[in-house]
Amino acid sequence: MTEAEWKRANRAAWDELVGIHLAPGGYDLADLRAGAGRLNAIEEAELGPVAGLRVLHLQCHFGRDSLILAQRGAEVTGLDFSPPAIAAARDLAAELGLAGRARFVEADLYDAQTAIPEPASFDLVYITWGAIIWLSDIRRWAKIVASFLKPGGRLYLAEAHPAALVLDDLTPAADGMPGFYTPYFASAPFAYEMTHDYMNEAAELRNTRQYSWIHPLGEVVTGLLDAGLRLDWLHEHDAVAWRMFRCLREDEAGLFRWPDKRWLPLSFSLSATRSGA
Ligand SMILES: C[S@@+](CC[C@H](N)C(=O)[O-])C[C@H]1O[C@@H](n2cnc3c(N)ncnc32)[C@H](O)[C@@H]1O
Repeated sequence: MTEAEWKRANRAAWDELVGIHLAPGGYDLADLRAGAGRLNAIEEAELGPVAGLRVLHLQCHFGRDSLILAQRGAEVTGLDFSPPAIAAARDLAAELGLAGRARFVEADLYDAQTAIPEPASFDLVYITWGAIIWLSDIRRWAKIVASFLKPGGRLYLAEAHPAALVLDDLTPAADGMPGFYTPYFASAPFAYEMTHDYMNEAAELRNTRQYSWIHPLGEVVTGLLDAGLRLDWLHEHDAVAWRMFRCLREDEAGLFRWPDKRWLPLSFSLSATRSGA
């Protein structure tokens, strides 16, 4: 499996998902269109005010969260490698009258410094849910993130927990819990057969094969420290923002949890600040 092959497969899958996520059964954009978009409960509790901040939203998909942050007074740059995602984000920004506060850049994450030649100019780098799992080199990612932050600027990251990513619904246990799928410590990407979309289970997918990585928590944190960031906090959650496994139950806040016990962490979030302010 070459880099060109896994990247092509992942891009095709994400290009296809844009249309599914914008169609009925996909993302609910009613609050955003009404002028008061809401992030998931975890980010709402942790992120804090963004008004007046220059925000870089990496792997922004079709810009829903970018535009929520713009609605709150941030000046946002969103980046994603999917052309239909960026086209949809620009259309949505124009529709909402937010084009002056939200711009969108089509580029691979690893080309971000060329696509956005604005080093050390952002107050906040914002990355959430299903982002770093598509990236092959976490130490390089951490350096790129750090390079965009002003001294005193910070990264907010919320992501699937790597300990949960070793599990999968393709090999379920007898009690309906997900089975063991792939090792925690693996350097190669693992191939994943996407049987259903995480937002719209009824959608039929043409591009089902994806390739992703498990980045152990220690490697993520150490990569950020080595890139010059200071860890402010690290939270592990027994909830996640989407139905990661079929057995998860949605709670009243819209998060997904194990059915009857806390079992393993499902997600983590962290804040890390660039020193030198
Ligand atoms: C699960 S989505 C992120 C979801 C987003 N946080 C949201 O809630 O809408 C993952 C995004 O990563 C993008 N992506 C995957 N690999 C990428 C890469 N190498 N460079 C840039 N974007 C990438 C995909 O196009 C997709 O939009």
